[in-house]
Amino acid sequence: MRIGVLTGGGDCPGLNAVIRAIVRKGVERLGHEFVGYRDGWHGPLEGDVIPLGVPEVRGILPRGGTILGASRTNPFKQDGGAERIVENMASEGVDGLIAIGGEDTLGVAARLHAEHGVDVVGVPKTIDNDLGATDYTFGFDTAVNVAMEAIDRLQTTAESHHRVLIVEVMGRHAGWIALHAGLAGGANVILIPEQPFALDRVCQLVGQRLEAHFAPIVVVSEGAQPQGGMPETQAEGRDAFGHVRLGGIAHWLEGQIEERTGKETRATVLGHVQRGGTPTAFDRVLATRFGLHAVDAAHAGEWGKMTALRGIDIRLAELSEAVAQLKTVPKELYEEAEVFFG
Ligand code: F6P
Repeated sequence: MRIGVLTGGGDCPGLNAVIRAIVRKGVERLGHEFVGYRDGWHGPLEGDVIPLGVPEVRGILPRGGTILGASRTNPFKQDGGAERIVENMASEGVDGLIAIGGEDTLGVAARLHAEHGVDVVGVPKTIDNDLGATDYTFGFDTAVNVAMEAIDRLQTTAESHHRVLIVEVMGRHAGWIALHAGLAGGANVILIPEQPFALDRVCQLVGQRLEAHFAPIVVVSEGAQPQGGMPETQAEGRDAFGHVRLGGIAHWLEGQIEERTGKETRATVLGHVQRGGTPTAFDRVLATRFGLHAVDAAHAGEWGKMTALRGIDIRLAELSEAVAQLKTVPKELYEEAEVFFG
């Protein structure tokens, strides 16, 4: 077979490890041929193809980002977009696709398969860890470790200056990064999108921590919401999948907490630092295993499926099941973290 590989949506550490595993096993063990589609769904939509053989994937295992490029292109937002993909694949002799992405990229893959008969296997990636059907996505562990290290570093400077420090992490609809980094870093309070927070309670917890002569670190997901409403967007407009660009809640909290507690408060927004750079060992191994199983699935004709981590096993899940519902932080897990608030 000739198989096209693409990486869509926001990039994350481990994408190159998946591509390498697909190509190494696919060429050397299974006898297939690969092409790389550039910049997510833009590639098959515009016929933007690059060679993808064993030489192209040498040395990329530890590299962050993606050698194929990424974008948030949505073919279903373009007239005849899906039909163009089918035509381009046929004219390039591409029999099937392996699409590596999050809810948006895999949502497109699921529709192309169900509505247009495109042979596609999905691989779940996102630092947000919010895809259904898999216990973890790769990229998440790296992002959590970056955020944890930032919290550790902020802790020492916060204590020297008796300040309140707020750390804003990514997580549009789900608070997984905030929850794990906050727990690992010993945060004073963790605020996530799933649990709208009361400012009075946050200030009370900050006060308790200051009374104990320790500096409070507030970890907040970019998508967290105060009870009664307010912070959400940073910029006007939406991307091709209808998402607003988030970011900035930490600065809003900075003003609110300083005003209410009278304590000097500063915000740090980690932003894309969490998405860049080299993947952790966990993410390299998970990404590699996903790549191996994705190419096996394509080889076996298991189209319309996605690789998924269940416990320590890699299984196949229906793409439609994986994108049907976002995996958010359950209340019980948040309650575990709450034990350490204040
Ligand atoms: O979906 C992953 C993610 O990193 C989100 O956490 C974040 O809201 C978004 O992507 C940012 O996307 P962009 O880099 O396109 O602004």
